[in-house]
Amino acid sequence: MNRSFASSLLPSAPWWHPRAGHSLVIRGGRPLLGTWPVSGAKNAVLPLMVSTLLTPHLVTLHNVPASLDVAVLSALLRRLGAELHWSTTEAGLSVTICADRIHPGEIDGDLVARMRASVLLLGALLARCGEARLPMPGGDAIGLRGIDFHVAGLRAMGADIDLAGGMIHATARAGLKGADIRLPQPSVGATENLLLAAVLATGTTLIRNAAREPEIADLARCLIAMGATISGLGTHVLTVQGGTPVTGAVHTVMPDRIELGTLACAAAITDGELFLQPGRLDLLGAAGPVLERAGVELREGESGLIARRSKAGLSGTDVTTRPYPGFATDLQAPVMALLSTATGASAITETIFEQRFRHVDELRKMGANIAVRARTAVVRGVPRLQGASVTCTDVRAAAALVIAALGASDDSRLDGLDHLDRGYDRITEKLAACGAAIDRA
Ligand code: EPU
Repeated sequence: MNRSFASSLLPSAPWWHPRAGHSLVIRGGRPLLGTWPVSGAKNAVLPLMVSTLLTPHLVTLHNVPASLDVAVLSALLRRLGAELHWSTTEAGLSVTICADRIHPGEIDGDLVARMRASVLLLGALLARCGEARLPMPGGDAIGLRGIDFHVAGLRAMGADIDLAGGMIHATARAGLKGADIRLPQPSVGATENLLLAAVLATGTTLIRNAAREPEIADLARCLIAMGATISGLGTHVLTVQGGTPVTGAVHTVMPDRIELGTLACAAAITDGELFLQPGRLDLLGAAGPVLERAGVELREGESGLIARRSKAGLSGTDVTTRPYPGFATDLQAPVMALLSTATGASAITETIFEQRFRHVDELRKMGANIAVRARTAVVRGVPRLQGASVTCTDVRAAAALVIAALGASDDSRLDGLDHLDRGYDRITEKLAACGAAIDRA
């Protein structure tokens, strides 16, 4: 990352330190051992931070991951007029956000381009201010990633939305009205955007075919703590009785289930043992049984999950990504790295995003045997990967390459670290504390 951009994030996220070095050097072959503190979920904290725009009252979030995405969203909120007060305790990072004076002017294109979740500002700003103007959101290049479901839902609630010249200009001068909306497919972002908008819209909103990812229920729980009336949490139909102003709240961000699954893979590929804390099997959804079939032993302890390679070793298994509670697309790349060294073949099918196999070329550089046909990657396990120079192409590809490098026979050098830093809180430090030979260079 460009140093001046990194420094520009500091006023809004003083805990963010422009990282030294552009590469991560990992010497593979050391078992990961010890207790791994699982951070707050990246994909929960972003909509939670946006939800603070719905109220002039203070909202405090605990267990905030110290990641680049959080720093970027903090800068966006600050430019919109919100004040952020950070504190660090033994329990982790907390933020109190005060959005009593919001000005929904044009939003910084450079910041929006860095983060897909910035599209959530649309629903919250429309609901609170009656207007939002932002560039089309960026984020990982993993597929088309349209926003048509978001736009159609907000239009059904009475918004006028103009899409021209790469900009989204939305207005709802007379306020938003509740609507009966059916999503064409259970989109996580569209469900969150409509939920945020519906809280302040007058009347009842139904979001049918809603996504059921646990991060959405976490957002709904925070909105309920703020005084919103929402039912159907964790189901395909969310009902919101809107129109009542919401107040402040205190909420703890749920643990990151993707980090949980990713580190279980890392423990297994290095033949180590990690106590992932906090962690529960049910958080993994269908990924739990997939990991167990692949030879990752998962045992629930009192406050976490113990992960290690089973005595029988790693073995190939087939995986298809699906919306929750199906196998998470965000674990597809990490699990592919793991299966690269399993005995036998695995067919990994990606159904959520069209271009989420960019890590395949990088894993091949490390000796993985992977053939891609359309949306399926066939992985034939090799006994061991070899270290190589590789490039992270998205957040989860970065995690996959870290796993592969930890299990490889010698040194690897990873570039494109912004992707890793976007989604993982202090990953280098946490890996080093569990015995990895890892350095930024
Ligand atoms: N889609 C549309 N139109 C829309 C919305 C979605 O065609 O208006 C399509 C997308 O192109 C995609 C599918 O629907 O093919 C599912 O997309 P979804 O909206 O569910 O994904 P998202 O909200 O953009 C979130 C996470 C992703 C995660 C997906 C699926 C955040 C900030 N991002 O994205 O996380 O992969 O849900 O679970 O919550 C990541 O963390 O690495 C990441 C990419």
